[in-house]
Amino acid sequence: MQKEFNIAVLAGDGIGPEVVAEAIKVLKVIGDRYEVNFHFQEALMGACAIDATGNPLPDATLDLCLKSDAILFGAIGDPKYDNDPNAKVRPEQGLLALRKNLGLFANIRPVTTYDSLLHLSPLRPEKIKGADFVVYRELTGGIYFGEKTRSEDGQYASDLCAYSVSEIERIAALAFKAAQTRRKKLTLVDKANVLETSRLWREVVRRMAGDYPDVEVDYMFVDNAAMQMIQWPTQFDVILTSNMFGDIISDEASVIAGSMGLLPSASIGAQTSLFEPIHGSYPQAAGQNRANPLATILSAAMLLESLELHDAATEIRAAVSKSLAENKTTEDLNSDAPMTTAEVGDYVVSYVLDVSHV
Ligand code: IPM
Ligand code: MG
Repeated sequence: MQKEFNIAVLAGDGIGPEVVAEAIKVLKVIGDRYEVNFHFQEALMGACAIDATGNPLPDATLDLCLKSDAILFGAIGDPKYDNDPNAKVRPEQGLLALRKNLGLFANIRPVTTYDSLLHLSPLRPEKIKGADFVVYRELTGGIYFGEKTRSEDGQYASDLCAYSVSEIERIAALAFKAAQTRRKKLTLVDKANVLETSRLWREVVRRMAGDYPDVEVDYMFVDNAAMQMIQWPTQFDVILTSNMFGDIISDEASVIAGSMGLLPSASIGAQTSLFEPIHGSYPQAAGQNRANPLATILSAAMLLESLELHDAATEIRAAVSKSLAENKTTEDLNSDAPMTTAEVGDYVVSYVLDVSHV
């Protein structure tokens, strides 16, 4: 029987629409090849939603997401809001509200190195060769969602960082389980020498470690982790961390992969999961057909995994590796003879269509 899946598509702002279009092209040929029917339905979120409706996350978008089997998301953000600290409505609020409303408490960001790209990283190839880790970032708590205040005279502001045991336990359980299927090492990244919330994370993770005796656990302060990730990235397997630390170290980790344009992510939780590249809206390149679509295409592969379409996901990853090995890439990876966004998407599509590689 033909499988049917409803996919909500939130292309968003900046380069979002261009990179999402390529991922959809790839998902369509995957659908044909694996006899799966994807029904794509688009909705607005971010600056484009503010322009159209005044709301960065319109109700119609949330409703569509709630009734879909998965969400493919591009990027949000627009410089006109970044440069206006007094803006009352911001594109980012749409994404944060979506994460909260869908209960997407775990953001999973795999970091892989490709031998063909080692020379492109500003880090020395021998240091990063073989690095392969995954960041489990808590996504619906911490300082992102704690109370925010600003005094009436505007001279004082605060952001509260708060975590409960259950919020820590649910993501830690996912991270421990992931470690069990990988190299069995989990590193908790925190700031337990200063922050009370970090001490709670440590307490909870230390207690849970007893339930996963096959997983080696270590604890690292975030400042040290930021340095170690660059010095010795191969030591990491699963990194577990809070919302803000995860945001920061995952951007840092993209340097190891060679380009921001390569890192996918999955946000999972209570119901529908969301898949998005970790890069932002890159407004400078918007509409120019030069942004790297591979992070979004790899996010589509994670989406397929979540629908148990493992062979299809493997095929996409093979196509991406091939495009990197053959230098069929956009300008971020290929300054001599860059391909356009659409050409890279076409290359991945042609790989999937070409049955001769099977
Ligand atoms: C990310 C982004 C978001 C975040 C922004 C756009 C709100 O940087 O997904 O990493 O900080 O979580
Ligand atoms: Mg970020």
